Order: sequence, then structure tokens, then C-alpha cells
Amino acid sequence: MTAMNDRVVIFDTTLRDGEQSPGATMTHDEKLEIAQLLDEMGVDVIEAGFPIASDGDFEAVRDISKNAKNAVICGLARANFKDIDRCWEAVRHAERPRIHTFIGTSPLHRAIPNLTMDEMADRIHETVTHARNLCDNVQWSPMDATRTEHDYLCRVVEIAIKAGATTINIPDTVGYTAPRESADLIRMLIERVPGADQIIFATHCHNDLGMATANSLAAVEAGARQIECTINGLGERAGNTALEEVVMALKVRHDIMPYTTGIDTTKIMNISRRVADVSGFQVQFNKAIVGKNAFAHESGIHQDGMLKNPENFEIMRPEDVGLSATNLVMGKHSGRAALRAKLHDLGYDLGDNQLKDVFVRFKALADRKKEVFDDDLIALMRDAGTEAADYLKVKFLRVICGTEAPQSADLTLTVDGTDHQVTANGDGPVDATFNAVKQIFPHSAHLKLFQVHAVTGGTDAQATVTVRLEEDGRIVTGQSADTDTVVASAKAYVAALNRLIVRRTKTGSDQKEISYKDAVS
Ligand code: KIV
Ligand code: ZN
Repeated sequence: MTAMNDRVVIFDTTLRDGEQSPGATMTHDEKLEIAQLLDEMGVDVIEAGFPIASDGDFEAVRDISKNAKNAVICGLARANFKDIDRCWEAVRHAERPRIHTFIGTSPLHRAIPNLTMDEMADRIHETVTHARNLCDNVQWSPMDATRTEHDYLCRVVEIAIKAGATTINIPDTVGYTAPRESADLIRMLIERVPGADQIIFATHCHNDLGMATANSLAAVEAGARQIECTINGLGERAGNTALEEVVMALKVRHDIMPYTTGIDTTKIMNISRRVADVSGFQVQFNKAIVGKNAFAHESGIHQDGMLKNPENFEIMRPEDVGLSATNLVMGKHSGRAALRAKLHDLGYDLGDNQLKDVFVRFKALADRKKEVFDDDLIALMRDAGTEAADYLKVKFLRVICGTEAPQSADLTLTVDGTDHQVTANGDGPVDATFNAVKQIFPHSAHLKLFQVHAVTGGTDAQATVTVRLEEDGRIVTGQSADTDTVVASAKAYVAALNRLIVRRTKTGSDQKEISYKDAVS
């Protein structure tokens, strides 16, 4: 029996539940990169996607399966043979594959496929048996478990175990439960369901009431031994349980929660930044563990106390989560070797050609900005990775703004290698710039989000701009950083359009045709 040892399995679903968040869509290569980072940091199970949802999802799960070194690679499938077969086709390439199949068991969710309790029980038996005939590692989830009648939940969990499920996941799909209830539910299942001692119970919490981390830890204390989570708590609505929070809570409070994980916590910051970059969901400044302010001690009293003894105010060391202890400032006299070393500390290992390109950008930035901080370099790296093969590029931009309208933008945009120039007016410099882009490259995408963050302090700080666009149900996010906020805005807008262009050409391949929340067929 494995269920009651102290080791907690970390199941990461950034690439499935996290990526499902509107606008967080990642490219194939980005998914592969994140999967590799998850594997390297010691995640036990990577839920790589929902293979039936689109050809793009299928290909990502298949390729992640081929590349994975240590982690179990899991794919999601609804409760029907077609989904399960497609999932198996994708994950079977992994050294250690897993099929995860689910069905909504609460009264509200049972009404969607219009199945009686008995019919649903039969469906669970058939589909889990089918999955188990394909793969010896099968996870089953009763979606909306926390709002499912206890007797029925016990009945279907028993059926799934008898049909061969090796992990039973108990999702709090709508983030409704509270810590004591989360624990009681797991305890009840362990006590009442025959065969419960033969499998691992997992907890899968959403953060709608801000209790996902607490609910997950409470479930572990009651006997769950798998936590399902995402990097930065990425996920629809208020997101999923944040991996960094549960892992660090178990590490820092091992005295009262004596459970271990296989995670190398020093890799947390790097993967957090990469997920923020590729998903376009920036981490809030005061987010636990990975927020920009999580280790900042600005008040005089705290700084004094910290200098005397860091333990006065710090319950974990920045190095424990992969933050370099010093924020060594770079400037225009810093050389290539120093840049390479600094980027290495920040988690970027560059080849010679890449370094050459980044060094040119770094020098240009250092000419405009006296001091280049870690966050400036991270922003620079984010931009460096995206522009090479772009269809649209901002070549020249000059705006006229101020108290007297109209504000105008003079823009030269390179479209597929050819320069186009226009001057457009707008309600402010950003509006004028976006109008200019639209004149050169007409499109019907709607602006869903426009967000500006200062990367560091000071009036010469770079601004990171995030732009989210929606066209025919496709949602894309673009980001860019520059010391000029309007230039960053133009580049972020164009970055989002470039993603949209890729998505348009891959429709049918990348576009999700099915959401896991669609009716269970
Ligand atoms: O939240 C949920 O119920 C899910 C299931 C598919 C496991 O993500
Ligand atoms: Zn979920």
C-alpha cells in the first residue's frame, strides 16, 4: 500500500488546466520548454494536455511524452472510448504514461449528459476498464466531487477502483470547499470505500474563495497523497492550487506537516517567470513565494531587523526558491562574460549566437538606462525570444501627445518584409498607435486587456505591456518591454497580432475544438 507514506506526489497541470485559462494559450515549443522545466524540477506527473481537444493539443502531449526523462506524462480524456483512445495514442510514447479520465458526478453535472445515477455508474465502469486495458496507470476524477452526494461519490469511486483506476482524484471544480470539509471528504472516502487503501487519493482545488492551497494541504493531512497544481496558480477564473505554495508550505512547515515532495525548490523562480512570460499572465506583486515583493523588506524597521538577522522577518531564504541573493546591477560598461554569468544566474543558458543578439539589445538598453536590474534582463530575454520569425514588426514610431488633441502616431510597420507607413490620430498616444497598426494591418480582433507594469523603479524604468486580443473565439496575448511605454505598447500589440496570425493559419490544428467543460458525450 502506498497511500499512507509521507511522500506527496506533485501532479502539475499548468499545461492542461492552466493553459485552459482564456488567453493563456501557449505555442507547441513553449509547452515543450515548460514540460522540460517541470521534469527537471522534479514534478512527478505532468498533465500535458487534453489530446482530443485539438490536433495542436494532441501533438503537444505526444511530443512531451517522447521527450520526458523522469516524470509520468498524463493526458486528459472525457468518459468515452474515442477520447480515451486519442489520449492513449498521445501518451503511449512516454516511458511512464498515464490516462486521466473524468466525468461530472454532482447533480448539476449529471444533468448535462442526461444520465441516471445507474447509467453514469455503468459508464464509469466501462470507460475506466477500457483505459486500464490500454495503460496500467489510470487516474479517474469525479468532476465537481465536492458537490456530489457522499453516498453516490463512495459508490462511483469504488466502481472506478474495481475497474482498475490507480489514482482517484477528488476535484473541487468550482473552488467551493473549505479546509475542514476538504479533509473530511478524503477521510470519509478512505474509511468507507472498499479498496481505498490500494490507490492514491489526489486533491485538485480551484481558488475561487482563495482557499485552494489550504484545501490541498488539509486533504494531504487527511490522507491524500497527490496534489494537483499549477505554476503561479495559473488557471481559469481564480486559478488552481499554486505548486510553489504547497511545495514551500510543506518544506517550511515540515514540523507540523511532515510530508515530502521530490521538487527542487531552487528551480521555482525560473519556471515561474517562464510560465508568466509564455502565458502572458504576469504574477501579482504580492503573490506568495514568487511575487516580486515576496522577499522585499521595504519598511525601515524590517530592513534594520533583516540586517541584524534575516530570520527576524524571513521564514525561508530567497535562495531556497532560486532567487539570487544579490541583485547585481549591470550597466553599459558590463561585458559579455558578465552578461552571460548574470543570465545563467537568472536561469537562461545561451549559446554564442543567442548571447551575441542579447548583448546588442542589452547595450542598447544600457545606453538608455543607467542601471540594468535583474528584472530588466528578464524582460529583455522575453522580447528576445519572440521576434525572430515575426510577420509584423515595429520599425519606427513617433507619437505626438500632450494636453492638446489630437494625439497622433507616425508608424512604420514591416509586414512580411515590406515597410508600410501611416499617420493616425487617436484618443491618447496608445490609441493613436493602435489605430495606426490597424490601418496598416486591418483585422477584426477585439482588445480584451491592456496592462502596463513598471519593471523596476525610477523614471527611466522599462514598462512591460501586456495586450490580449480576441478574434472568433481565439484569444492571444502579447507582451513587450521598453523604456518608452508607447513603444512597448505598440510592440505588445504587434506581438499579439503575430500570435493571432499563427493561430489563424493553424486553425483546425491549434484551435481547441472541445473544452473539457463541454457536455460529456
Ligand atoms: O476542475 C476539475 O474538475 C478538473 C477535472 C477535469 C479534473 O480540472
Ligand atoms: Zn480543474
